[in-house]
Amino acid sequence: MTHKITLIPGDGIGPEVTLAAKRIIDASGVEIEWDVVKAGAEVIEEYGTPLPDYVLESIKKNKVALKGPVTTPVGKGFRSVNVTLRQNLNLYSNVRPIKSYEGVESRFDDVDLVIFRENTEDLYAGIEHMVSEDIAESVKIISKKASDRIVRAAFDYARKNNRKKVTAVHKANIMKMSDGLFLKCARNIAEEYKDIEFEDVIVDAMSMKLVLNPEKYDVLVMPNLYGDILSDMASGLVGGLGLVPGANIGDDAAVFEPAHGSAPDIAGKNMSNPVAAVLSGIMMLNHIGEFEAALKIEKAVADVLKEGKNVTADLGGNASTVEFTEAIIKAMKKNSTNLKVCL
Ligand code: NAI
Repeated sequence: MTHKITLIPGDGIGPEVTLAAKRIIDASGVEIEWDVVKAGAEVIEEYGTPLPDYVLESIKKNKVALKGPVTTPVGKGFRSVNVTLRQNLNLYSNVRPIKSYEGVESRFDDVDLVIFRENTEDLYAGIEHMVSEDIAESVKIISKKASDRIVRAAFDYARKNNRKKVTAVHKANIMKMSDGLFLKCARNIAEEYKDIEFEDVIVDAMSMKLVLNPEKYDVLVMPNLYGDILSDMASGLVGGLGLVPGANIGDDAAVFEPAHGSAPDIAGKNMSNPVAAVLSGIMMLNHIGEFEAALKIEKAVADVLKEGKNVTADLGGNASTVEFTEAIIKAMKKNSTNLKVCL
């Protein structure tokens, strides 16, 4: 069966890491018809917006997209393409698995946790204004509907993937109404999942606990801002942003993208780590039911990381993005040959 999937290359290192993911997915044998659509700074002049309608139309039609990072200018200009996309398509779950891989030098070697970040509201709802010339105000929105569905998504994931514990992260001691509501929703939903352990931790304490003992955590669920910060922090525990994939999932569509940004400091240098984009592709393959290809690619990625010879500078190697990508394709082909011999 041929799958139709939207591909948004993005900008900065986006085009090179999404091309790497596309090459590897295509080499796995899965049949995909890619609908490549451009978004970001390069289309503003022509369309007057970084997110033209054709991008949303393509995702709505195909229901699945693989996306590279898109630069968001700080403090001025257009609203973030990423935030707008998540809100317009109601992609309410942001899922970021953070996992240690053998061969990757990092502070911990036994991390395997998944962060569920609420993706549509909180301080990212975009409601802010100048009260006066000297005072700005941002409004934090937390609703029962959005809190219930993200907590439920975390518990459903835990149950489906044989995870043991869900930890809700909040600051309800200070923001008694907004985070208080999130916590109340989490506690209520937890009652429906008695088979899974539940706890709640205040976000500042959580930051310390994650840095000290990340192996103690399994599935974490939290409002938007805390999820944004803690997922980048957690990526540092396993070797950096180059290794953390992500999925934005709603009821009608899903957009898979690395957790990292467009990395302007290394853009165009053929030195970005393609793994986060490739792992995002693996999440996408699982989402569309291509489990065998997903497994095959993950094994090849793990083999190349373990061997440590063809990895990019962020992982201590000196391979280029293209060399890293080709090593993964080669490992995948080698594994397939071994499989045939075994049979
Ligand atoms: P960033 O994630 O782009 O970079 C942070 C650091 O990590 C940089 O030193 C960069 O070189 C390194 N890095 C990131 N990805 C890497 C990779 N694959 N391989 C090797 N090193 C990597 O974060 P930054 O600099 O804060 O953001 C840059 C732009 O990206 C901003 O405009 C931001 O708004 C945007 N952004 C977009 C996202 C998206 O499209 N989903 C997500 C996060 C940021």
